Amino acid sequence: MHFHEDPPALARPIGIFDSGVGGLTVLSEVQRQLPSESILYFADTAHLPYGTRSAREICQYVREILGWYHTRGVKRVLMACNTSSALALDVVAPEFAMPVDGLILAAARVAVGQGRRIGVIATEATVRSQAYTRAIRALAPGISVWEVGCPRFVPLVESGRLSSDETRLVARQYLAPLLAQQIDTLIYGCTHYPYLAPVLDEILPERVRRVNPAVAAAAQLRTQLHSSGTAAPADNAARCEFWVSGDPGRFAWAARTWLGYSPVVQSVQPSPTAVTPT
Ligand code: DGL
Repeated sequence: MHFHEDPPALARPIGIFDSGVGGLTVLSEVQRQLPSESILYFADTAHLPYGTRSAREICQYVREILGWYHTRGVKRVLMACNTSSALALDVVAPEFAMPVDGLILAAARVAVGQGRRIGVIATEATVRSQAYTRAIRALAPGISVWEVGCPRFVPLVESGRLSSDETRLVARQYLAPLLAQQIDTLIYGCTHYPYLAPVLDEILPERVRRVNPAVAAAAQLRTQLHSSGTAAPADNAARCEFWVSGDPGRFAWAARTWLGYSPVVQSVQPSPTAVTPT
């Protein structure tokens, strides 16, 4: 299955990528808010998880992914990955002519509109970058922010263990320091984490507001497509392709629960040689 060789400019797909199934939380929000847009979803499962990798590695993977998207003629890219948004957006996106959006600013804007004591759960790489703290403080200097790295969450989600005893125990440990700070708002700072909402809801008091960056990022994408005049026509026959760098069968299995169907998954290895920067 391939997109037509040369679709009309406005009907060209949007690239959405993550290290794995986490970005499907963003994909489903984009499909809900922008049903006419075609999407090319890429999961870099050969390099999963991103959250324990160095900034240098993450930038290199993102460079290769954006290079592949460039060759596929997407009209813009949404990083459905907080770790990439935190570490590679500012460094790598300027190397390419197509517009590339991240998640962090969109989520920070929503969070500062809701609370004064903000907790962020994210991958270790995202927490190390302090990208959320910087984004929130730049918008509202007086706000308190606490970030907690949750390295065990992504492997639990990828293996479908969403409500096991282990997941509950780990979630309690990760949330304890944020509850001790009496946070009023919690950002799901990794796109895999909204899948853990049922378990997190057992631990978090109801008064703590949850921010899922996918919702804000999809709304931001809609605004950008409309203001730049690049939204697909309402009658566009939208399609979605799935590509992975690792095992397609494994991704199809993991994605099935979230998509409600077993997707056709194709395999590609974005490589340094495929990069065609501006
Ligand atoms: N889902 C990604 C994020 O939002 C990456 C998780 C990982 O691969 O560690 O950060």
